[in-house]
Amino acid sequence: LAFSQSPKQDQLQPFLQDTLGQIETTDNGAQDNTANSLRAGPRGHVLLEDTTVRKKMIHFDRERQPERVVHALGHGAYGTFESSGDWSNITSACWLQNNVTSDVFVRFSVVVAGMGGSEVGRDTHGFATKIYSQCGNQDLVGNHLPSFFINDGALFPDLVHAVKAEADKGFPTGGTAHTTAYDFFTQRPEGSYQLMNVLSDLGIPRDVRHIAGAGVHTYRFINDAGESTLFKWYWQPQLGLRSLVYDEATKIAGKNNNFQRVDLFNSIAAGLFPKWDLLIQLFPDDGTYMFKGIDLLDPTKVVPNELNKPLKFGTMTLNRNPTNFFSEPESIAFAPSNVVRGVTFVPDALLQWRLMSYDDTHTHRLGSPNNYLLPVNRPVTPVNNNFRDGYMQPEIYVGASTSSPDGIGGVIGANAASTLDYGNETINGAIGRYNVISDDFTQATSFWNSLDPYAQQHTVDAYRFELGNVANSTVVSTYINEILNSIDNCLARRVAFGVGAPLPTISKSNKSIPVYPSEFKLANQGKL
Ligand code: HEM
Repeated sequence: LAFSQSPKQDQLQPFLQDTLGQIETTDNGAQDNTANSLRAGPRGHVLLEDTTVRKKMIHFDRERQPERVVHALGHGAYGTFESSGDWSNITSACWLQNNVTSDVFVRFSVVVAGMGGSEVGRDTHGFATKIYSQCGNQDLVGNHLPSFFINDGALFPDLVHAVKAEADKGFPTGGTAHTTAYDFFTQRPEGSYQLMNVLSDLGIPRDVRHIAGAGVHTYRFINDAGESTLFKWYWQPQLGLRSLVYDEATKIAGKNNNFQRVDLFNSIAAGLFPKWDLLIQLFPDDGTYMFKGIDLLDPTKVVPNELNKPLKFGTMTLNRNPTNFFSEPESIAFAPSNVVRGVTFVPDALLQWRLMSYDDTHTHRLGSPNNYLLPVNRPVTPVNNNFRDGYMQPEIYVGASTSSPDGIGGVIGANAASTLDYGNETINGAIGRYNVISDDFTQATSFWNSLDPYAQQHTVDAYRFELGNVANSTVVSTYINEILNSIDNCLARRVAFGVGAPLPTISKSNKSIPVYPSEFKLANQGKL
């Protein structure tokens, strides 16, 4: 197969519809005017026979597809990813081999806000990349912060219900901060490190050219010899990181909800192409999923750079705005389950549910299991299988065979061992519903201790704002006494003082916890 410089752009070309300067038609291709209703006289009733305008209206009535259940507010752009070397000793993934450049699409998003909300809100922000590689689509679906709130996907619907609008009111008490959210955070202390990240200066990124990305979970590389190496991935913006303080964010949001997409669109249109380095932390796969005392299966925790220096595996450049907002950023479907030969998974109970949830939601949001055939979602490699029929199936398959294996010349089964390979992983355990054992506070304390005094003050202000808007005083005092006081007594007292709650006296925190300054710098390279 011969590919040009941009296989994805070539693939999209035949799908482009240029109606500029064309004579208007109905949807059966006949010429007609849809600006004037068909009426019984110039001042008479509109006729049922106006099938053309009737179809126009029917189409309009159905223009919206459901917004994403999370990360609804987003935008994105095309670009390229260039591997910075030959990583074949670690992974068979074709997009990480020597001199390989692949097309990409990146969608940046905000988790909680719905469409039409503010892009500069305090929240976890999404950073999802689809790499259209020559061995299939590789999706890297991450966030801008390197950890998460929970470590079992069974809790994800509860987390999302707790942080979105409250069920009775349809809005969160106190704007962004609310009772159900802090009740949840009180019940689930494993998220205290992630929440502190969100409430720190990292929680309000200025724009997406200065935003980091992180895969959060540990994944697995497999090389051609079947050897397994564990890894975590990060996007490091070459422009450095920039955040907003809360007052700046509220002013910007008041003027322009779409501040971040305007910034990216205008930058790309002006030829200022933002770049990110793909940084990877590698861990030996010794079967324990532990690294220097840190549980690699626990996505609520990170491995600080001081303990494992990330290596640069490549660079991504965003250089082309989408042609159509609905067809591209809105209709793209990312899934952590989209991996190519050389990348597989680990038994992290959050990741494992993500492997199911995205494919499932796409059939709902985009209306059909055929969503992978939409132009923006199609791999640049051929899709040959017997996933057939269903709503809006656009392909015209040739031949009688619809099963595999078959004896009449249909698709030929690929070598199963060469695709989803897990190295030497063996599973041996008693079936049951288990709590994920988590060290709830050490990394939060370490993070707090690594902040400069001004950054600590911003974080205290954010806790005060949030807890000051929680309507239930038991939730406020429990959060301060059980969570904040377990992180740091001084932090707990400062927050309690600000919201008029009793000051906690006995600290549960351990002051001998090491400080990892680069943990903060990883996502905060520039000046704020
Ligand atoms: C979007 C589920 C955890 C990053 C979504 C969507 C669902 C979902 C249903 C909407 C997808 C769509 O409509 O196309 C889950 C579940 C999780 C989980 C069940 C936990 C079990 C995470 C984590 C991260 C993450 C830990 C980051 C590492 C994203 C991103 C998007 C997204 C970036 C937006 C993708 C886009 O731009 O289209 N998630 N999620 N999610 N999720 Fe998750």
